[in-house]
Amino acid sequence: MSRFPQTMEFSHLNRPLGIEWTARNLEVQGTIPAEIRGAFFRAVPDPAHPPLFADDSILSGDGMISCFRFENGCVDHEIRYLRTPRFEAERKARRALFGRYRNPFTDLPEVQGIDRAVANTTPVWHGGRLFMTKEDALAYEVNPHTLETIGPWTYGGKLRSPTMTAHPRVDPVTGEMFMFGYEAGGLATDDVAYFIADRDGNLKSEQWFKAPYCSLMHDFGLTQNWAVFPVFPTKSDLARLKAGGVHWTHHQDADSWVGIMPRYGGEVRWFKGPKGIFSFHYVNAFERDGLVHLDVCLADTQPFPFIRAASGINIDPRSIRFSTERWSFDMSKPGDTYAARPLCPPGDLPRLRDADQGRPYPHFWLPSMDPNAAGPPVIGGPVGAQFNALLRVEPDTGRISGAGFGPATSVNEPVHVPSGKPGHDGWLILVVDREIDPEHHTSELLVLDATNIGAPPVARVPLPVELHPQIHGCWVSAEQLAASKLKG
Ligand SMILES: [Fe+2]
Repeated sequence: MSRFPQTMEFSHLNRPLGIEWTARNLEVQGTIPAEIRGAFFRAVPDPAHPPLFADDSILSGDGMISCFRFENGCVDHEIRYLRTPRFEAERKARRALFGRYRNPFTDLPEVQGIDRAVANTTPVWHGGRLFMTKEDALAYEVNPHTLETIGPWTYGGKLRSPTMTAHPRVDPVTGEMFMFGYEAGGLATDDVAYFIADRDGNLKSEQWFKAPYCSLMHDFGLTQNWAVFPVFPTKSDLARLKAGGVHWTHHQDADSWVGIMPRYGGEVRWFKGPKGIFSFHYVNAFERDGLVHLDVCLADTQPFPFIRAASGINIDPRSIRFSTERWSFDMSKPGDTYAARPLCPPGDLPRLRDADQGRPYPHFWLPSMDPNAAGPPVIGGPVGAQFNALLRVEPDTGRISGAGFGPATSVNEPVHVPSGKPGHDGWLILVVDREIDPEHHTSELLVLDATNIGAPPVARVPLPVELHPQIHGCWVSAEQLAASKLKG
C-alpha cells in the first residue's frame, strides 16, 4: 500500500490494512454455544488511499463491513469494502480524490457532485434490511448474505433528509425505528430532521426542527414517550468550510443544550447544560418516577484530538475528565435546568440489551479503562487510546463487575446475543486486538458469558489476519437473516 501520514490517525492500530478476505471454519478454541446462530456485523473505517491532507482523520476512511457468521458452533468471516461511488472513483484513480473530512470544497474538481458517503460507522438492521451508516450522508444498503453494496437508502424516495444518524433507536415492542439527520438543510445548517420508519421499514413520518446551533449530534435518546436530543458545542461554519478549513471546532465556553420532544413529533423543549462538555454516546433513555432520564458517556471537552487541535484546545489528553452520568428532566415543571449525578466509572461504546431500549433497565456493558493495567493504552481509534477492560454495570444496585484483558490489549465494542434459556442473560461477542509493536498486532474474537464477563471466554477464535478497529457492530440472528428482504 502507499505510504500514509505517520500520525496517530494512521498508525498503530489505525494503520490502514486494506484487506478484503473470506475465511470459512476458523479455528475455535472452546465451544461456541449452539444457540449463537447469526451474524456479527462490524463497521470499520479503513482508508484505501493516503488522504489528500496529511492532518486528516481516520473517520474519513472508506467503510468496510466485517462479518462473523455463526452456525452449528462454526465461525466464518468476511471483510468487504463498501462499493460507494467515492470508493469506486478513488479506486479507479488509485489515489485520494476527496479532500478534508466532511469538506466538499476541498475535493478535486473531477469528483465534484459525487456522493462523499463512506458508510463507515454503524451496521444497522431494520425492516429485514442491513444498512451501513455514517451521519453525514444517507445510509447505504448492503446485502447481508453477500455483503454486496446496493446503494443509498431513501425510503423509496420519500425521505427529504440528506443525512441519517449512525445511532437510530429501535423500539423493542413496536419494532419502529426512530432516526434523525443533522445538517439536514445543507452543510453547517442548524436544521435537524427527525423521522420514523414502521417495523416493516416504511417511512411513516418526518419532522424538521431547528437546533440552537449546528452541532455534532452523534446519538440521541428515546423513551416510550419522548425523543431526547443533546446538543454540544462542537460547531461547524460554512465560511470556514468554503475557505478550505475543517468541519468542526469545539467551543469550550459555549452552552450545551438538551432538546426533548414527544417521540411521535411536536414542539421541542430546550434545557440548558454546562459549557464546553461533549458526549458521543448514550447508554439509554427511559421514564421513571415522573422523570425522563438520559444516561450519558460524558467528557468535559471534545474527546477527538483532531477536533481539539483545530480548535486551539491544547491540553494533555490525560487531563480530560470523563464520566458516566444520569441526567434527569422533569417535564411537568417549568424551567430549563436538569439534575445530573454520577452513574458508574467512565467508559464509552455502551451495549444495552435490545429489549431494554427506552425502558428502565437492569444492567448494561461498558468498555472502560482498567486502572490496574500495566502500561499505557493501545493507540488506535479516533480518540487515540483504546479501552482495555469491560464492565457490567447495574445502575440501580450500583453493582459493577469487570474484566481486564491484559496489557497492550484493545477492547472493541461488544454485541449482545440473547439466550433462549430462562434466567440466562445471554452472551457477549467482541473482538480484542493485542499490540505486539507499533507495526503489528493480533486480533481475536471472544465469546463471553454476559453475566460473568470476568470468567474465561467460553470460546475464542484467533484470527490469522490483523483486523482494523471497529467503530460499532450489531448482531443479526439467523431467523432475522432468513427473513431478510434480499436473498443471497
Ligand atoms: Fe457512535
